[in-house]
Amino acid sequence: MAKKITTDLDLIRIRENFPAISSGRIITNNAASTQTTFKLLELCKKLAPLYDNVHRGQSTASIKMTEIFEESYDTIADFIGAESPQNIILYRNATEAINSVMYSLLTEFRDGDNVVTTFMEHNSNYVPWYGLCKEILPRFGVNVECRLINFDKATGELDLNHMSSLVDRKTKIVCCTGVSNFLGTINPLQKIKQIADKSGYEQPDGDRRSYLLIDGCQLVPNLFIDINKLNIDFLVWSFHKMLAPFGIGTLYAKKDILSRLRPFLYGGDMIAEGKVSQEYVGYNKLPWKFTAGTPNILGTILSAAAIRNLLDLVLNPEKNKYFNSKKRLNKAVVKKAMKRIRVYEEKLSSIALEEFQQIPDLYLFGPKDAKKRISLFSFVSKKKDPFQIANELSKEKVESRAGCHCATLAHHYYRLNPPASCRLSYYFYNTSDEVKFSIDALKKVLKK
Ligand SMILES: Cc1ncc(COP(=O)(O)O)c(C=O)c1O
Repeated sequence: MAKKITTDLDLIRIRENFPAISSGRIITNNAASTQTTFKLLELCKKLAPLYDNVHRGQSTASIKMTEIFEESYDTIADFIGAESPQNIILYRNATEAINSVMYSLLTEFRDGDNVVTTFMEHNSNYVPWYGLCKEILPRFGVNVECRLINFDKATGELDLNHMSSLVDRKTKIVCCTGVSNFLGTINPLQKIKQIADKSGYEQPDGDRRSYLLIDGCQLVPNLFIDINKLNIDFLVWSFHKMLAPFGIGTLYAKKDILSRLRPFLYGGDMIAEGKVSQEYVGYNKLPWKFTAGTPNILGTILSAAAIRNLLDLVLNPEKNKYFNSKKRLNKAVVKKAMKRIRVYEEKLSSIALEEFQQIPDLYLFGPKDAKKRISLFSFVSKKKDPFQIANELSKEKVESRAGCHCATLAHHYYRLNPPASCRLSYYFYNTSDEVKFSIDALKKVLKK
C-alpha cells in the first residue's frame, strides 16, 4: 500500500466515471492520451438524433446544432480565460494547430529572420519550424535560421541565459513547450515571455517583439491557465489529453494577430457570405475565418463538455452542476478545480520521486522536485532497454510507453542509444496505490 495522501478529490466517485478504470485497467500512460467518461459517451449518443451540419441549413436541427457548437467555443475560451470565442480556432490536434501558425505566418518571414525553439520540444513544435526553415522558405529565396535553446541535463530546466543569447532583433517567433512531455519540467513562461518581448523584432503590425507560441499539450490539462495574464500570442493544446479523445486540438491566438493573419486552410465557410468572385475573396469573421470546410462538430461539442465534466469531477462528482449547465464558466471556478488537480498531482509526483530514487541503476530524467514538474516520469536503466521494460511492465498490467515520446531532439541531447526511454504518467484519476503499484512492478521487472 502506498502512503495515503490527503486530497479534496473524491477519488472513488471520480473513478466510477471512467469505463477504462471500471474495466480494471491501471491507466499509467496518460501523457499520451487520457481516458474518457461514461457521461461524454452518453452525450454523444444523445446528440445523434439532433445531428446536422452547422452554418449550413435552416432546419431546426441545424440551427440547434449550430447553437450548441458555437456555445462550445465560449466554454473553451472561458476555460483558459480568453477574451472571447473569437480567439479560439479548432483543429484536429495540437500538431495541426502549430502547423496552422507556421503556414499562416509563412509569407511574413524576411530573409535573415530566425525562429527560436528548444531541445526539449515535442516534434510537433520543432519539425514544422524545421520544415519552414530548411525546406519551404529556401525555395522562395528566403533564409531563416532555426535556433535551439539548451536545457540543463541534470535538472531538466531550460537555460534562460542561452535563450537570451539566441533571441535577437531577427527573431520572428519563439516556440516553446509549457511543460516537457519527456522531462516533465514546467517551464517559466513569464521569464520566457520577457525575453521574447525584449527582442525588438519588428512585426508587420508595428509591434517590436518576437511572437511567443506555447505548446500547452502537457500544461493545459494539468495547471490553471490565465491566458490574459500570460499575455502570450499563441497557445495550443489537445483535448485527447484531457478526457476528450474526439479529434480536437485548440489554437488560442490574440485577436489582432488572427485578424491580420492569412488563413491556413482555404475553402467553404471561411469566406464572408457572398464575397467570392474571380477578382476577390472576402473572409468570414473570427473564428470562422480559420474554419474551412465542415468542422468536427460532435468532437467540438464533446470537447467543451469534457471541460464541464472535468470541473464537476474535480469539484463535486456527485453533481452535474457544470455539465448540465449552459452558463459561461467563471474564472474562480476553473482556478479552484485546476489548482486542486495540481496539488493532487504534485503529491503523486512526490510519492513517485521517492519510489524511483530507491531503484538502483535507474536514471530518471527531469526535475527531482515535485514542484518543478508534472506527474510524468521518463527513465532508463542500465539493466534493460526501454522497450523490454515496457513490454515486461505490460505483462504486469502496467501501461507505459517506450520510445522517444516524439521528443527526439532531447533523446539525442542525452546521447541515448537507442534514442528512447520508458515513461509512466499519471492523471488526477490515478491513486497513490496505482503509482506505487506501477513502480513496484518496475522494480520487479528490473530485478529479473
Ligand atoms: C508536449 C506535446 N506537444 C505536442 C503533442 C502533440 O499533440 P497531438 O497529438 O494532439 O498533435 C503532444 C502529444 O503527445 C505533447 O505531449
